[in-house]
Amino acid sequence: MIQRTAWAIALLAVLATAQTYPPDAVDKLAADSLPNLKEYLAKNPQNGCTYETAVKRREWSNLSVQERKDYTDAVLCLMSKPALTSAQAPGAKSRFDDYMVVHIQQTPRNHGSTFFLPWHRYYVWHYENALRTECGYKGYQPYWNWDRYAKDPSNSPLFDGGEGSMGGNGAKVAHQGIPIPGAPSPYNMIPPADGGGCVTTALSRINLGPIAPTLRITRNPRSDGLGHNPRCLRRDVNKNAAAVTTANYTHSLITSNSDVYWFQTVMEGQFPQGKWGVHAGGHYTVSGDPAGDFYVSPGDPVFWLHHAMIDRVWWIWQMQDLEKRLAQVSMTRTMNNFPPSANGTLDDLSGLGVLAGDVKVRELMSTMGGLGGKFCYIYD
Ligand SMILES: *[C@@H]1O[C@H](CO)[C@@H](O)[C@H](O)[C@H]1NC(C)=O
Ligand SMILES: *[C@@H]1O[C@H](CO)[C@@H](O)[C@H](O)[C@H]1NC(C)=O
Ligand SMILES: *[C@@H]1O[C@H](CO)[C@@H](O)[C@H](O)[C@H]1NC(C)=O
Repeated sequence: MIQRTAWAIALLAVLATAQTYPPDAVDKLAADSLPNLKEYLAKNPQNGCTYETAVKRREWSNLSVQERKDYTDAVLCLMSKPALTSAQAPGAKSRFDDYMVVHIQQTPRNHGSTFFLPWHRYYVWHYENALRTECGYKGYQPYWNWDRYAKDPSNSPLFDGGEGSMGGNGAKVAHQGIPIPGAPSPYNMIPPADGGGCVTTALSRINLGPIAPTLRITRNPRSDGLGHNPRCLRRDVNKNAAAVTTANYTHSLITSNSDVYWFQTVMEGQFPQGKWGVHAGGHYTVSGDPAGDFYVSPGDPVFWLHHAMIDRVWWIWQMQDLEKRLAQVSMTRTMNNFPPSANGTLDDLSGLGVLAGDVKVRELMSTMGGLGGKFCYIYD
């Protein structure tokens, strides 16, 4: 639970609200791209979703402190509802955990593959919908514009530990740094930062995993990570990692990669070349357990804001050439083509396991009109 005791922290939150961020290069690109979207929509009706009816997902610090609390209260509500997946995952204790179960089970399919972008779009939308329909949340999924907090993430509205935050950094605990397999020095290590221990202002306790732990975590009783392993949320909020998520990197990701293969490759990281990319960069900015665990990362509630930003960046990229990019997927059906598989297509199926059935990838390509019109959102 969020501790509501420290006045100093509350004051910090108030100060953070007062903080304003001028539009960065990516914000400007998004705004400049909206006429393309409107023009496209005028010619191509989208299952009843129009520019006027599309809802807007907003940036975390653009929400008032009350709106942020409404969001975190809804997350806590999801954590208080009984799991649907406990038959297959005895460690799953809540509806929130259900989402971790699905991610754990499908990690290899949905990373470094055709499904990475469309599947995560579906996944985030489904979670947003659960917050709204099961927990009375009236807003929409907020996103984390990495650039705003990259210089000093631990003192940002996201991680300062105040009432309007997603909980604070972890307590400072000495550790060796976090190894990044497959990357050359110095990119083979996230250096230790000011946290590493338990988050005392945490939104959650963790029940599942670890599978690919980055800190010394008690092993899960089951090899698939789905047994019960209750523990605190740990973070090591890290500006070293945040440095690769600035608007500079994100803008060039969007504008320098016209083919979706390269857009996705640069976004997901080119580890042998020491390039983490914005996707891993965001995960490593939070770091710790389970945010740094490739399989279990949705158990840190900030995952959902990070992946909303991933989705936003794809949306901005798509707006640069809607005709083509709403229909473009690449890569194969398996992670890094291991084991070797065919190239994926728009007719491949993608689903959320026990949470939601399979749909064709083509249903997940447009934030406006996808999933038979259930997707109807843009980013503010
Ligand atoms: C979000 O906040 C920034 C200042 O932090 C402001 O420049 C921008 O206009 C806001 N956007 C919206 C849509 O309110
Ligand atoms: C901007 O991003 C590019 C890669 O896209 C990188 O090579 C360059 O060092 C970055 N510049 C700054 C100032 O971070
Ligand atoms: C699979 O996609 C790659 C590009 O991503 C392309 O070079 C290759 O020809 C495709 N293979 C087949 C069999 O279509």
